[in-house]
Amino acid sequence: MTTRHLIDRLGGLAFGGDYNPEQWDEPVWKEDDELMRRARVNLATVGVFSWALLEPEEGRYDFSWLDAHLDRLHANGVAVDLATPTASPPPWFTLAHPDAMPVAPDGARLTHGSRDTYCLAAPAYRDATVRIATALAERYGGHPAVAMWHVHNEYATLCWCDHTAAAFRDWLHARHGSLEALNEAWGTAFWSQRYAAWDQVLPPRSTQWHRNPGQALDFRRFWSDTVLAAYREQRDAIRAHSDRPVTTNMMLPGYQNLDLWALGREVDLVSIDHYPSAPGLDAAADTAFGADRARSFAGGRPWLLMEQGTSTVYDRDRILGKEPSEILRHTLGHIARGSEGALFFQWRQSRAGAEQWHSAMLPHAGADSRIFREVQAVGEAVARLGELAGSTVTAQVAVLHDSDAWWALEVDGLPSADLDYHGTLRRAHRALWDAGVTVDFAHPGHDLSRYRLVVAPALFLLSDAGAANLLRYVADGGTLLVQYFNGFVDDRLHARLGGYPAMPLREALGIRVEEPRPLRRDERIVLSDGTHGTVWSESLRTEGAEASVTYTHGMLAGKPALTRHRFGAGRGCYLSTHLDDPGYAALIARLLDEAGVGPESPGLRPGVETVTRQAPDGRRWQFVLNHRADAVRLPEPALDLLTGRPADELPPGGCAVLLRY
Ligand code: GLA
Repeated sequence: MTTRHLIDRLGGLAFGGDYNPEQWDEPVWKEDDELMRRARVNLATVGVFSWALLEPEEGRYDFSWLDAHLDRLHANGVAVDLATPTASPPPWFTLAHPDAMPVAPDGARLTHGSRDTYCLAAPAYRDATVRIATALAERYGGHPAVAMWHVHNEYATLCWCDHTAAAFRDWLHARHGSLEALNEAWGTAFWSQRYAAWDQVLPPRSTQWHRNPGQALDFRRFWSDTVLAAYREQRDAIRAHSDRPVTTNMMLPGYQNLDLWALGREVDLVSIDHYPSAPGLDAAADTAFGADRARSFAGGRPWLLMEQGTSTVYDRDRILGKEPSEILRHTLGHIARGSEGALFFQWRQSRAGAEQWHSAMLPHAGADSRIFREVQAVGEAVARLGELAGSTVTAQVAVLHDSDAWWALEVDGLPSADLDYHGTLRRAHRALWDAGVTVDFAHPGHDLSRYRLVVAPALFLLSDAGAANLLRYVADGGTLLVQYFNGFVDDRLHARLGGYPAMPLREALGIRVEEPRPLRRDERIVLSDGTHGTVWSESLRTEGAEASVTYTHGMLAGKPALTRHRFGAGRGCYLSTHLDDPGYAALIARLLDEAGVGPESPGLRPGVETVTRQAPDGRRWQFVLNHRADAVRLPEPALDLLTGRPADELPPGGCAVLLRY
């Protein structure tokens, strides 16, 4: 099943959110119907947390209340994204299956009272999830209200219990083939960790000091595969009774212990939840970061923003409101990057319960509120963009992401505590976003030939195949920027011997890193061009490359900090420190220039974002989002789809979707 089904069904883009009507009663449902019409809601996610109502006791189902809501929504013109409720097992489940409650690394077993409390490796839990998914699919597989399926919610819970241990051993057996190979891969010859029998092998539970890195990385891989298997079981149970597309919502950027490339291949439609935690321009950049990742995990196909908030979510210790017009700009920031619409969590703010202060489309204050009026305006705007459905976005620049590299950078015992996988990726994306270019994410093993510039910010782990692929990319004419502590280990976390990064990538870069030299916390070093480095430095020598910037102090004085190397038809650049913001922005600008990549819309001031969606027939729509506090003139005025009138200027915080065909 493809997205086309959803697009045809909605006749445009999706607008709506999670709808949890079981919290309310008849008069409120009537009001919901009216207000959903006013807000132009056409898609509601129903049933995400409804297990206790749908199956009040094990094996006894009650669908009557859900029948009534689906019929009501359908009659009101609202299609349903029907969820399986498995993210929140009811209290009876804990009592019947205490062994299916998750266990923390220190051995503490959790119990019900919150949500997401289950062990994906426990047979009782997996069986129960397939049973309820099957029961829902049998009943609603062909229901006219149901436009798509939403399996589970944000698979995230990890577990270290005995079921997990048994499943982990099976997985390790399949991956390594023998205990000997496992011992070799994990380097158990050190610290007397050698395993003499499979039942000695455990998940990485609490222990005295550094946990074995190979064990930690394999556990993350194993858990990702466990999640995918659990998702597939429910998906297939649904597919047996329904032809509607199936998804599960990804949580971005990095809270989810899951290989999102792999998940992207399993779902009919990639869907993401995105909540920027910082306000202002940072939130806009974060929106782009999340949306560009979603589109990339979808393999460039259309995807869907499944949840966002009308306020931010906890920014450390508080929920911060969005400024007027920010809800629209965030919504369009996602749609501009290929989302087939915009949904929120949740339609109506809860009166009681765990998320009563979480924002919603309809706040406690009711329809007579700024938030609901903005939501109505956003619904109106999304409705005007219906003709964009199914169109896509292309990028000339990619940032490399690999979950193996992410997990590798989280093991114990690394040379610096300041290495931050997602922070480093985000920084690379932000510099490109500030430069006004559209960015894809790609895996180091992907075909990169369509990109003029590829940035590899944090591939501490790089497989042999990945290193060879990057070499090929440069040889064939690409421009590649590799940043420090890259390619230092292989996919078993074994150090690359004889110098870093991995061969044959070193050939494309024309360098050999001999010694990593992490910097002290807050240490800043001066480079020959006046920029500064923090976090990290490296002692490296050129092997064909030219040093364009050098270190100026200490034992690295005069040695290369930034190198460039012509290789084949392309260029490989290596940056061995964490450059300060202006220095990094200037480097990215230079590389873009050399790679022949210009901003989406030249001549726009900083803080004005542009992205273009295009249809296969050549139609193009240019989104322009003014995140500035002053008005901006548009260099090339055109008809604005949002107003139906020509636009030549945007007010502070204003947006336009310009027809470019
Ligand atoms: C997630 C969940 C929702 C809700 C929001 C709150 O994305 O899927 O149920 O808890 O977070 O931000």
